[in-house]
Amino acid sequence: MRVQFLIRGVYLLFGCSFCLSEEFPRNFKRHSELVKRDDCQTAPEWQATQSAWIADDTDANAASWWQNISSKPHGSFTNELGEVFSGHLSRFECGIGAQSTCTSPACSVYENNTSPAWSYELTLAVVNLNKFFNDLYTGIINGQASYQALVNGTMVFFPRKPLFVLGDAAVWTITLLTALFAIPATVVNEPAGINAFVSAGVYQINNTLQTHTITSQLKQNRGLAELSSFAATVGSATLGGIELWANSTLSGDTDPLKKNILDYLYNGTFVNGTNLPNSTEVELFYKQQIISREINAQWRTWKIFVMFHKTNNSDDTSGPSESRYYSAADGGVYYLYFYHEDGILRGHLDKPWGLDFLNGNVYGITAADITKASARAFRAAKFNYNQSFAQERIMTSISSNGALNPFADGAGWEGTWTLPVCDTGIHNWNSQYGNKTTRYGMLPCCCGVNCTDTAAFVKAANMKYFQTLVHGCRGLLGHSDLNFKKIDYGYALDDQLALVYHTWPIAGRVFLILAFIILPFVGWIGRAMFWSEMGKQGFHYR
Ligand SMILES: *[C@@H]1O[C@H](CO)[C@@H](O)[C@H](O)[C@H]1NC(C)=O
Ligand SMILES: *[C@@H]1O[C@H](CO)[C@@H](O)[C@H](O)[C@H]1NC(C)=O
Ligand SMILES: *[C@@H]1O[C@H](CO)[C@@H](O)[C@H](O)[C@H]1NC(C)=O
Ligand SMILES: *[C@@H]1O[C@H](CO)[C@@H](O)[C@H](O)[C@H]1NC(C)=O
Ligand SMILES: *[C@@H]1O[C@H](CO)[C@@H](O)[C@H](O)[C@H]1NC(C)=O
Ligand SMILES: *[C@@H]1O[C@H](CO)[C@@H](O)[C@H](O)[C@H]1NC(C)=O
Ligand SMILES: *[C@@H]1O[C@H](CO)[C@@H](O)[C@H](O)[C@H]1NC(C)=O
Ligand SMILES: *[C@@H]1O[C@H](CO)[C@@H](O)[C@H](O)[C@H]1NC(C)=O
Ligand SMILES: *[C@@H]1O[C@H](CO)[C@@H](O)[C@H](O)[C@H]1NC(C)=O
Ligand SMILES: *[C@@H]1O[C@H](CO)[C@@H](O)[C@H](O)[C@H]1NC(C)=O
Ligand SMILES: *[C@@H]1O[C@H](CO)[C@@H](O)[C@H](O)[C@H]1NC(C)=O
Ligand SMILES: *[C@@H]1O[C@H](CO)[C@@H](O)[C@H](O)[C@H]1NC(C)=O
Repeated sequence: MRVQFLIRGVYLLFGCSFCLSEEFPRNFKRHSELVKRDDCQTAPEWQATQSAWIADDTDANAASWWQNISSKPHGSFTNELGEVFSGHLSRFECGIGAQSTCTSPACSVYENNTSPAWSYELTLAVVNLNKFFNDLYTGIINGQASYQALVNGTMVFFPRKPLFVLGDAAVWTITLLTALFAIPATVVNEPAGINAFVSAGVYQINNTLQTHTITSQLKQNRGLAELSSFAATVGSATLGGIELWANSTLSGDTDPLKKNILDYLYNGTFVNGTNLPNSTEVELFYKQQIISREINAQWRTWKIFVMFHKTNNSDDTSGPSESRYYSAADGGVYYLYFYHEDGILRGHLDKPWGLDFLNGNVYGITAADITKASARAFRAAKFNYNQSFAQERIMTSISSNGALNPFADGAGWEGTWTLPVCDTGIHNWNSQYGNKTTRYGMLPCCCGVNCTDTAAFVKAANMKYFQTLVHGCRGLLGHSDLNFKKIDYGYALDDQLALVYHTWPIAGRVFLILAFIILPFVGWIGRAMFWSEMGKQGFHYR
């Protein structure tokens, strides 16, 4: 008994001294941390950095905390967060319109409340996320006003009453919204969290747009009045969607893709909010994107296109410098053009209508941006840059750590404009805007390797059956290494007398008219041919 007691005593004694030698310094250290309260200003684990987030094991701690809370009756995620860790010291309310009550208390409040550093990190991220929701909301409200102003405006920059392809508008609106949500991806480089965040946003907004049955009313071309109401509906549906999304996110709800706020904040995605865009930046982006996509849909019904030519001179001057986009990767330079018809079998390259207006201080969309966005879309998918592809590209841009950057690119971002591109290779058929020195001016006469893309380009650029193109190209190619007859334009050159008559010199025409008078029979046939050709050409004449 005694021996046993003794052994036990010795054991206890040693155990205790063991315990002292092991535990005391640890306790002491923990105690000293609490005493040095102002430490959190400088201590690395309390900083608004991704490394602090990771060092504090914030993801795991937050997940087990929220799992515990949410298994019982509970308030919203943000209310619980404020209550539990900063101890009622501030009224912590987040949501759309609640930016003033969604601010983080100082880290010392957490220290005094013996709350762990991870709860402070989590609060910082929630505050940034909430600010972003609000900036997105405000930015879209303000951007929406300029969109409607464009619609309401007289649109003097269009030469005839504009008809918009609303189907395109709806499709691109979804794409645009995806782009908006991709914004934070470009500044934080956190694919996992951002992917969850963006997917949830796209799902929510798409859902809201669907319930407003926007897509069902969009099968035909519409005029300004319909476009105006469309713009208003899209705007309000979008805002409603963002509000719902923000509300359910900040409540801690699980989204339809089975993610919640902790998935969005994963690995410190929002912990440093320094570079998140503010409402002014969102507004500019929204405005540029939605106007661009609208005008792009309109321009795609005209002979408006881009020409590429190989050169390693980034200061190439063969085309209009305002629209120049040089790409070292593509090894050449792109220019934007509108083929302007001046009469039958006569025309020149000029600037598209409204270019100066877009380039002005209202929208700030430059010709170079238009060229760049179209060029990139062409390189990615030739003439078929459709919505599903665009969607895929945005998601790729997110998971590629911002290698493609919608926000920094603005209107120049791939696919914002999708005007057809003719890659003329080593041939240079560029011209300054308004150069009318020759009858036909310059033309896109051969596109792609061995001219194999020409027919597809001609169709995309609304030039199929356009006789001016083939007549002009026959002349241009006469001086080159290319054989005009071997190029497939998708239609044939029409060399009938009645048409080419217009290209004759005066003496020739006088002779023909005399022939008409002298030989009534010939005259009758000639006149019939002439008027029938006029009818065909009139279709293209603008
Ligand atoms: C947040 O990020 C910005 C830009 O990357 C950086 O300049 C800043 O120092 C960061 N803030 C903190 C607290 O690390
Ligand atoms: C779960 O919550 C209860 C009180 O609501 C708390 O006492 C307990 O420590 C929590 N458990 C964990 C693992 O956080
Ligand atoms: C934290 O506690 C210290 C010491 O009691 C006090 O001086 C300080 O004001 C407190 N800070 C906050 C934010 O409550
Ligand atoms: C555009 O017109 C609609 C209806 O005509 C009007 O309700 C709206 O306020 C106008 N918006 C702007 C920005 O002028
Ligand atoms: C939007 O919703 C429609 C109908 O539910 C669906 O077919 C489409 O794929 C959705 N688009 C996106 C981008 O989620
Ligand atoms: C946000 O959610 C709460 C609770 O889920 C609800 O009471 C409130 O009406 C919602 N607000 C909006 C604007 O949807
Ligand atoms: C979290 O971020 C760090 C630093 O950027 C990175 O090294 C790590 O792979 C990320 N973890 C996950 C699971 O994404
Ligand atoms: C938004 O950010 C830009 C550039 O960073 C700045 O010029 C502008 O004043 C900011 N606007 C607001 C409302 O904070
Ligand atoms: C530009 O390209 C030509 C041939 O296309 C080549 O001879 C020349 O070396 C290149 N110049 C530069 C600076 O790369
Ligand atoms: C969309 O474009 C991609 C890439 O060009 C193509 O693979 C896909 O078939 C197209 N989808 C539709 C529905 O046209
Ligand atoms: C106009 O084009 C012709 C050839 O088509 C060219 O010789 C001339 O230099 C151009 N003029 C200007 C001002 O660019
Ligand atoms: C272009 O034509 C050349 C010569 O006929 C041929 O060798 C080459 O394979 C063609 N390239 C393509 C992409 O068709």
